[in-house]
This record gives sequence, structure tokens and C-alpha cells, in this order.
Amino acid sequence: MPCNCCEITDNAFSEEEARSELRSYRKRGPMNQTKLILEAIRSLDLKNADLLDIGGGIGAIHHELLQEVAREATHVDAASAYLKEAKEEAARRGHSDRVRFIHADFTDVANELPKADIVTLDRVVCCYPDFRRLLQAAAAHSQCAIALTYPRETWYLRISERVINFFQALRKDPFRMFLHPVAEMDSVLRREGFERVSLRRLFIWEMALYRKSGGAV
Ligand SMILES: C[S@@+](CC[C@H](N)C(=O)[O-])C[C@H]1O[C@@H](n2cnc3c(N)ncnc32)[C@H](O)[C@@H]1O
Repeated sequence: MPCNCCEITDNAFSEEEARSELRSYRKRGPMNQTKLILEAIRSLDLKNADLLDIGGGIGAIHHELLQEVAREATHVDAASAYLKEAKEEAARRGHSDRVRFIHADFTDVANELPKADIVTLDRVVCCYPDFRRLLQAAAAHSQCAIALTYPRETWYLRISERVINFFQALRKDPFRMFLHPVAEMDSVLRREGFERVSLRRLFIWEMALYRKSGGAV
């Protein structure tokens, strides 16, 4: 589907919002759904892994995993405001030379990027209309595991999706929230050779960890 998604997403996340998320991360650590991704990745017992964090926001996943699990990280993000804060925090932690930052829609640049051991998408598929294309590209880049969070398919989130998107349309803002069908996201990843090995739920978010079938992890 042709889409100026990167531009739409870039405009959706303001510098103020990104700064406030970084302040909150410095004070309280990763958000609860991010903690589920971190626990899932740590459970794989990897060392010196390469991480590809798609839509990493302020970079909480690589800030944390570069401490003991990952050797290097690539952070591809459509939102420049988030990348600015993520870079600042990486520098503060002395990780600048271990993180590559790319401002792009991942699906546009995927072909130019190498594979990684771990691929993460924390609250990303719900910002992107074509989840099949995004997940196929993510799966094609993972050698071991993919961990993602997305909003649960519940009645209260279906209502929220409609209300949020109604107000977005009223404000003439083209950014939309997407409650993608979980079974279809699962099918995409299974077709790409991954199996789900863990599923955890919070009130809003669900976290799924996939491992490459027959992989060495
Ligand atoms: C709600 S934010 C989540 C940020 C961070 N992962 C977190 O959980 O705090 C969604 C992020 O996904 C990014 N994003 C969405 N679709 C993307 C795509 N196709 N390629 C790159 N980044 C994308 C947005 O730019 C934004 O940074």
C-alpha cells in the first residue's frame, strides 16, 4: 500500500512528548510493557547479540540490553523527535559507538540493513497500517527471535481505537491507531518461520516472543 507513513508518523510524535518520555524513563525505568520485552529477551540467555529495534522511541530497549545482552544495536525510527532523545541518552550512557540510528520507515530501508539476532517492535505495529509488510520485513531480519507488543483485542480497546481515530479525523490529523488482528499477525510470523514461545498480557498491551523454528537459541 503506497503511504507517506514516515511523514505522518514523524509529525505524530512531538519533541515535548519525546522529552517527557525520556524524563520518565530516567526517573522510573522502562514502561511495564517494555519490561515484558526485556524479560522475554533476557530469558533467551543470549550474549553479544545484535539487536534491531524498530520504532524504538527513546531507545529504552537498547539502553537496557546493551548493558549485558547486546553487543550492538540498530534503532530505526520514523520519528525524528524520538531519535534525538534516544541519541542523547545513548551518549549519556557511553553507548554512542554501539548504536546506529536511522531515521526512516523500516519497510523502506529494510533491504539495505543487515540481519540481527533479535528484532524488537515495542508498541509499533499499532502505529502502522500495513502490519503484514512491517512484520514480514522484521521477520526477514531476525536470525533468532522477535519480541513485540501491541494492543490487546478487547472490547474496550476497540472502542478506544474508534474514539481516538474519530478525534484524529476531526483534527484533520492523518495519524491513526490500529488494532490489528492478533491471529493474522501470528500467521504472518509463522509463515516467515517463527513460533510463538511466550505470551504475556497487561490491561492494554500484549507481549509476544517468537523464536525462529529450529533455531539455535
Ligand atoms: C508509540 S511509539 C513507541 C515507541 C517505543 N517503542 C516505546 O514503546 O516507547 C511508536 C514508534 O514506532 C515508530 N514507527 C512506527 N512505524 C514505524 C516504521 N514503519 N518504521 C520505523 N518506525 C516506526 C514511530 O516513529 C514511534 O517511534
